[in-house]
Amino acid sequence: MIEATAPGKIILFGEHAVVYGRPAIAVPVADLQAKATLSPADPGTGFRIIAPDLGRDYSLAQAGPDDPLAVIVQATLRRLGQADLPEATLHISSTIPLGRGLGSGAAISTAITRAIAQFFNQPLAPTEISALVFEVEKLYHGTPSGIDNTVVAFAQPVYFIKGRPIQRMRVSQPLTLVVGDTGVVAPTHTVVGDLRRRWQAEPERYEGYFDEVGAIVNQARAAIEQGNLGQMAIGELMNENQELLETLGVSSPALDRLIEAAREAGALGAKLSGAGWGGNMIALAWPDQAAAIAQALTEAGAVQVITTQTAKNQ
Ligand code: PMV
Repeated sequence: MIEATAPGKIILFGEHAVVYGRPAIAVPVADLQAKATLSPADPGTGFRIIAPDLGRDYSLAQAGPDDPLAVIVQATLRRLGQADLPEATLHISSTIPLGRGLGSGAAISTAITRAIAQFFNQPLAPTEISALVFEVEKLYHGTPSGIDNTVVAFAQPVYFIKGRPIQRMRVSQPLTLVVGDTGVVAPTHTVVGDLRRRWQAEPERYEGYFDEVGAIVNQARAAIEQGNLGQMAIGELMNENQELLETLGVSSPALDRLIEAAREAGALGAKLSGAGWGGNMIALAWPDQAAAIAQALTEAGAVQVITTQTAKNQ
């Protein structure tokens, strides 16, 4: 039996502007994982996909053309030059909340690609895995920047610019993040499409906002690389990024409420993370204040709160 995993992700800075060519920063979340196991099956069984979290158990031969699990399996088999479907059972499980901007889709796809590549003993480089997963992300998002598949496939903090090779980032001091879920589901492609219409109507104005976001991302990169001393600056930059996200029209009353609650409870800074209109917000905390912030988020109506530490990598 082959087992492969992939982490969830958090966008720290730069969502939305990243779709328009500005940089963004994202980190993997090792506490949240998608797992794919692949076991050889009896001849005649075909390729079966079992995903209890998604309530699915079916044969690949019966999958529709837009089925994201089937698409990544087939794209991986094509990339490996495996013309015949293996007789095998693919089991998928994940601790990453679905559809909440924490990278569940990219992580499930990445785990599947890794498992199949190992099954055939044909390892794939992270760049190749990321490119395969990007194809599936397009099914969900329409015009994804590629940040999700990149951070998840490389499982490294990234400074990302669309269409460019990844730049790994040094995180000198672990960041303690409290992640609060509004419970509101807002599909990424809807929020991205809405902003696109506003950008089309007033391109200069929105390009100006995106430039401001880009400048914040570059300052944040320097602060993250600086370590402990930079944490206050990182928090302040999160607040500035949030202000611009509000101006871009992608925040929401539920997000604003949680962000305010986190700041009042002592967060160094807080902002939405991902597409917005719902989904998650993140707060940067000193480790000894994380529990109080988590409590405040729950009291302010968060349906789920996760506290996580980004790994330090020098
Ligand atoms: O909702 P998520 O976490 O997949 O994040 C979307 C991030 C955007 O910048 C809004 C879109 C993108 O493709 O980068």
